[in-house]
Amino acid sequence: MRRPFIAGNWKMHTDRVSAIALAEGVADQSASLAHVDLAICPPYVYLDAVARAIAGSKVAVGAQNMYHEAAGAYTGEVSAAMLLDVGCKYVILGHSERRHILGETDAAVNRKVHAAHQAGLAPIVCVGEVLAEREAGKTLQVIRAQFEGSLAGLSDDQMAKTVIAYEPVWAIGTGKVATPEQAQEVHADLRKIIAGQYNAQVAESVRIQYGGSVKPENAAELLGQPDIDGALVGGASLKADSFLGIVAGVKA
Ligand code: 13P
Repeated sequence: MRRPFIAGNWKMHTDRVSAIALAEGVADQSASLAHVDLAICPPYVYLDAVARAIAGSKVAVGAQNMYHEAAGAYTGEVSAAMLLDVGCKYVILGHSERRHILGETDAAVNRKVHAAHQAGLAPIVCVGEVLAEREAGKTLQVIRAQFEGSLAGLSDDQMAKTVIAYEPVWAIGTGKVATPEQAQEVHADLRKIIAGQYNAQVAESVRIQYGGSVKPENAAELLGQPDIDGALVGGASLKADSFLGIVAGVKA
């Protein structure tokens, strides 16, 4: 049985005071939720303070990116070991904003995924098509290419511990959520791809989150789909009440 997993991607939002307050709000309100895994992903500079503020709570901390090298002359970059050092358990890799705005390729994401696993960080790897690709009927083709490029060369164990986030780019920050049927279709396709490239047991273990305009109002229906194992939440994760409202959509 896959444990539902809801993660908040704070992107480039909050400041020191509001980041800690938000983290504490989420931790306080989620203490009794035993049936779901939770994580929050603040900007790099607040990771340490947030991890300290909610240490011992049921809420894990994740980063929004990292570099694949372990150490060295890479000005401005942050390694997996550094993220672990400040208390991270997860790292989001290959988010569409990094792919489309910062020019990150599948090959670069793949190097990061390997480095994360080697260090002991669990990667949340994002895939998703843009609107023109969906309208051209190329969604599955795009998802397969991103999966094959970003997740190449993992062991069964590493794949099973990888979280995938299906985030259709046209649904991110637009208020246009994929219908539960549209999302379920892609999630089921992804699981079939994993079964084909690894095996059925690995495919049944991998948690696949949906991301893109998830809100308390649409969460239960999305999370009720058989292959949707959680959510990666942007805007609605910036208030404890709305983030927990989404978590409430997970069947206990
Ligand atoms: P929104 O929830 O704001 O649409 O963002 C989704 C996302 O990109 C999460 O990583």
